Amino acid sequence: MTGRAWIETCPDPDALAARAAGRFAEAARTAVEARGRFAVALPGGSTPRPVFERLAEPPHRDSIPWDRIELFWTDERCVAPDAPESNYGMARGALLDRVPVDPARVHRIRGEDPDPAAAAAAYAGELQATLGSPGGGPPHLDLALLGLGPDGHTASLFPGGQAIGSSGFAAAVPAADTLPPRVDRITLTPAALNAAREVAFLVAGRAKAEAVRAVLEGPRDPLRWPAQAIVPTRGTARWLLDAAAAARLDGIGEG
Ligand code: 6PG
Repeated sequence: MTGRAWIETCPDPDALAARAAGRFAEAARTAVEARGRFAVALPGGSTPRPVFERLAEPPHRDSIPWDRIELFWTDERCVAPDAPESNYGMARGALLDRVPVDPARVHRIRGEDPDPAAAAAAYAGELQATLGSPGGGPPHLDLALLGLGPDGHTASLFPGGQAIGSSGFAAAVPAADTLPPRVDRITLTPAALNAAREVAFLVAGRAKAEAVRAVLEGPRDPLRWPAQAIVPTRGTARWLLDAAAAARLDGIGEG
């Protein structure tokens, strides 16, 4: 994998969640001190939920400048915001309802809209309107949290998907291209994610070990392994892994 990638291995999922919450808090304070706000994109899935829950508890609940945070999502399922599959709904239950974020700074993806492509375009516009497009370039998130699927997908960038090569900042993804739950999705694209100052992959479990190895140590093939498309242009890629997910890496895992 090209670009700067920092790999940190934690003993188990609980330690990974603690480390990820700590990284979020560090990045938030640094960004607010430097630019007066922290623009972060949250992922869906099961791995981030314990991270969000830790952020909603002391010490992070009381030390993060929640009112200075611009919250985005890396992707969303095309369902109602209160549907069980909703990434926004999961974050709301685990975090947003428990910390003093400014509702005007919560930028959810409108997955419920009838036209996913139009909703994706609107979301790209909201991202640019909120963060600006310096010199006409992409908007810069301070941090994008990402997961990794066993097939190497990240956000809703799935193997062979057209969104991987999109020049736009958000794209609609047809259900047929996804893994369960097979619903249409909307995703940030590599064009948007690679403009972030930092992306942090949060990966736990043995089921991800082969994908982690392929993405980090295998031949470059972003269409087959979409997480390889995430190489921040000027920012940092950080991989926070538990020991099971790192098990197939040379020099780190059990081999
Ligand atoms: C989603 C996520 C997706 C997720 C991976 C890993 O909408 O589901 O954005 O990319 O991060 O599928 O999911 P787990 O954390 O549940 O393994």
